[in-house]
Amino acid sequence: MATLKTSYLGLELKNPVVACSSTLTGSVKTARQLEAAGVGAIVMRSVFEEQIRAEVADLYDTLEDAGSSVAMDYLRADLPMRLGPEKYVENLRQLRRELKIPVIASINCIRPDLWIAFARKLEAAGADALELNVYDIPADPTAASTEIETRHLDLIRAIQNEVKLPIAVKLSPFYSGLAHFTRRVGALGVEGVVLFNRFLQPDIDIERQRLKFATTLSRPDALRLPLRWVAILREQLACDIALSSGVHDAKAAVKGLLAGANVLYMCSALYRVPYGSAATEVLTGLTEWMDRHGYADLAAFRGRLSEHETDDGHGFERAHYVRILSAAG
Ligand SMILES: Cc1cc2nc3c(=O)[nH]c(=O)nc-3n(C[C@H](O)[C@H](O)[C@H](O)COP(=O)(O)O)c2cc1C
Repeated sequence: MATLKTSYLGLELKNPVVACSSTLTGSVKTARQLEAAGVGAIVMRSVFEEQIRAEVADLYDTLEDAGSSVAMDYLRADLPMRLGPEKYVENLRQLRRELKIPVIASINCIRPDLWIAFARKLEAAGADALELNVYDIPADPTAASTEIETRHLDLIRAIQNEVKLPIAVKLSPFYSGLAHFTRRVGALGVEGVVLFNRFLQPDIDIERQRLKFATTLSRPDALRLPLRWVAILREQLACDIALSSGVHDAKAAVKGLLAGANVLYMCSALYRVPYGSAATEVLTGLTEWMDRHGYADLAAFRGRLSEHETDDGHGFERAHYVRILSAAG
């Protein structure tokens, strides 16, 4: 029978299905269900930069009011390491104690500043790796794309200077020069990129005429966007690639691996009850498919349909678009 063993961010995984950030990976009870369902690793729900900064900033203010001294300066420099949402750190410790699979902590962040040292606390609490969820809506009309990209690269560098943990960067698909930017992220020496983050999109309640915010689960066709970009970026990046969005069944997992993903992130499908059963189905279906095609391990077919390998290196670009639309006419 085929083996599904793989590595991600330098961690040994029993298979390439990773339960990514969600409320399910935020609770020990549901995380255990996901482990029992067979996932190879989990990424904790994110802690928000704003949460960390708020706690740290309050104490900075208190210190300012108390006046400065050498002792105060020392304390000030060390604050973000000592503070930060204690609950999150305790949750991480608990997950580490209870689970055998790797636990990746996740920070939802935008700016490199005083909260960064909090990452050290996650490292000390036993995180196996750290995921940076760069959640930035570029709504400022005075900020050019280069400025935004520079800020994101600075953020990644700042975290790298803070911890020795392997780092994955969860990116949005909305960079104007996505291939160029992702290559720069890879060149920083991060261990992985996650393609892609799904932003929470606000909606409007037309009866109450106000905004409403609700997390929506993805549909299987959400796979197409990351599939294309995993395939395009596979040969351009030396680091690992996690495909995230739309992995609902074994077929999607096979497609992601053929495009060149190292691991498949699953979130929405894991909410089907019993929680995590979709991961078990993916693992069974993936093994069956590999056996049927005579593949002994993932390396035997990973990336076989990456951009580099298809249609003279243009399979996932414009050529197909033209062909399909011409045929339709
Ligand atoms: C209820 C819910 C909570 C989520 N929470 C987080 C989070 O805390 N941090 C994060 O990086 N992504 C979060 N996500 C995004 C998922 O990790 C994932 O990237 C996205 O849903 C796409 O995968 P999917 O198509 O399998 O759902 C959340 C998604 C859902 C549906």
